[in-house]
Amino acid sequence: MLKIALTKGRIEQGAAQLLQRAGYGLSQLKNPGRKLIFDSDSGEFKLVLAKANDVVTYVEHGVCELGIVGRDTILETGAQCYEVADLGFGKCSFALAGIAGRDFFGGYEHHTVATKYPNVAKNYFSKLGMDVKIVKIDGSVELAPLLGLADAIVDIVETGKTLQENGLEVYERIEPVSARLIVNIAAMKLRREEIGKFIGRLKL
Ligand code: PRP
Repeated sequence: MLKIALTKGRIEQGAAQLLQRAGYGLSQLKNPGRKLIFDSDSGEFKLVLAKANDVVTYVEHGVCELGIVGRDTILETGAQCYEVADLGFGKCSFALAGIAGRDFFGGYEHHTVATKYPNVAKNYFSKLGMDVKIVKIDGSVELAPLLGLADAIVDIVETGKTLQENGLEVYERIEPVSARLIVNIAAMKLRREEIGKFIGRLKL
């Protein structure tokens, strides 16, 4: 049976809808409780609920053949797997943001940027040729400029509400993000038929 690692939280609902539209029954997922692994109703696959970074880890190690995870996590982790489809939900974007009205790019002072995505932030600033100090934060990154820890943040923005309600604004959009289907490299060869059939049924 195929194992599909699914990112818990925001992406979960979109993924469940996609699988159900493809005709896969997921009745166990309706009342999940604290359970972490679910069989699809007709036993075609198992769904493994995991945190985004762990979805990539399980797929890279081949204990799950497939994964559903945000492009943000793929970019940050440099996931070693095939990214086979944009699933079209979980849409948001990476952005550089900070206190509204400030000119981040003006002046000569050294910048500090807070982020949950240090690799994405490093790549972004290195493309711009800017030497910026990156501080890793684990959640609610918006606090960092408000508390004076950083001049700006690199984070995902969906509705923009969190920024707006905290007096922040987008300085620059960096890159769009959405949920992606990833496949383990060896499994793509060894279980090609099974994986192809599954992806085909999703009608992406
Ligand atoms: C993400 C992101 C922003 C917020 C953006 O955080 O880091 O804080 O969502 O969404 P919005 O543009 O619709 O307001 P998440 O909710 O995943 O929580 P976290 O910061 O605790 O990781």
